[in-house]
Amino acid sequence: MSSIVIYCRGGFENDAAAEINHYAAKHGIAGYVKAKPNTAFVTFECFSPNDAETLAKKIDFKKLVFARQWFVGTLQTNMPIEDRVSVIKEAVQDFPLCGELRVETPDTNEGKELSKFCKKFSTPLSKALEKQNKLTREVKPTKPVLHVLFLANNTAYVGYSFSDNNSPFFMGIPRLRMPADAPSRSTLKLDEAFHVFVPKAQQETRVCSGMRAVDLGACPGGWTYQLVRRGMFVAAIDNGPMNDDLMETGQVKHFREDGFKYRPEKRNIDWLVCDMVEKPTRVADLMVDWIVNAFARELIFNLKLPMKKRFDSVYECLTLIHEELQKYNVDYEIQAKHLYHDREEVTVHINVLKVPQNLYS
Ligand SMILES: C[S@@+](CC[C@H](N)C(=O)[O-])C[C@H]1O[C@@H](n2cnc3c(N)ncnc32)[C@H](O)[C@@H]1O
Repeated sequence: MSSIVIYCRGGFENDAAAEINHYAAKHGIAGYVKAKPNTAFVTFECFSPNDAETLAKKIDFKKLVFARQWFVGTLQTNMPIEDRVSVIKEAVQDFPLCGELRVETPDTNEGKELSKFCKKFSTPLSKALEKQNKLTREVKPTKPVLHVLFLANNTAYVGYSFSDNNSPFFMGIPRLRMPADAPSRSTLKLDEAFHVFVPKAQQETRVCSGMRAVDLGACPGGWTYQLVRRGMFVAAIDNGPMNDDLMETGQVKHFREDGFKYRPEKRNIDWLVCDMVEKPTRVADLMVDWIVNAFARELIFNLKLPMKKRFDSVYECLTLIHEELQKYNVDYEIQAKHLYHDREEVTVHINVLKVPQNLYS
């Protein structure tokens, strides 16, 4: 197996390509990228047959910003329409036993047209793969995931990803419902961020009722809505008008202030979220300031991207954050992702584990 297949948002193929090139070079693995604009996927073709699997184990999937999903696989072309199952059975012969089958498409209009067929095709394919002992009858979340990514009705990448180093979501996209009473569509960005960045088993203790949150650039209130929905008390910072229904919950205080100047009275904020449209390095600096002053324990913020060199811009900000927090000996975990609901921006999550007390007391 010599290719890694990476799913991304259509239009961001160059960024996903630059990112996998960066990590392959870092791990000393030789190969080249294949990327076509607006196909919503790229592949990294390794020169040595086992290198794709090595990369899929060595690169931490959480570190990839522009990848929604990935797997190690091969391309199957010209499959006979009347018997695609046999071709796929042949392709999976050397695969490990997998615990789930996902028959997927790239996130494009052409992909959408194929998705009905993919759903129908999953049943006979899973039966055949179970018989072949390549797929467990019940879903086994600890085993690898078998992916079939259809590009056309006779062409698909067939491969597998490791369940401890992939996206748990079908097509790498958490399915979320737009709440009818949310003040803006961007509410889904924060909802998705919580699903992606906080493991399901930890949601109850890390994102819960009674917590205190600050929302910088809060209006009209889409992100505040998600915090309120989770039972939090929110300081909403913005000069704009805030949604009335949210104000009526009694959980929101609206401060008409500059988000770059606002600081909380006490160091007791559980979540700082920030969606201000600003230069990404300026937002990164602000977040560092909140962290080293121990104002907030967890942060979710957006970095708005430039039109070009988006990969460079994101990595510049992540490096800036890393260097500053290292300088101050802050212990933290960070993940940045180009979420499904993000457009020209990426979302970053920082979990602050320890801030040296001499920095702020
Ligand atoms: C993209 S919108 C936020 C949308 C919001 N997250 C939602 O879901 O409804 C950006 C907001 O940031 C606010 N903003 C921009 N610069 C700001 C600043 N320096 N201080 C406070 N708010 C700011 C704008 O007024 C605007 O309402």
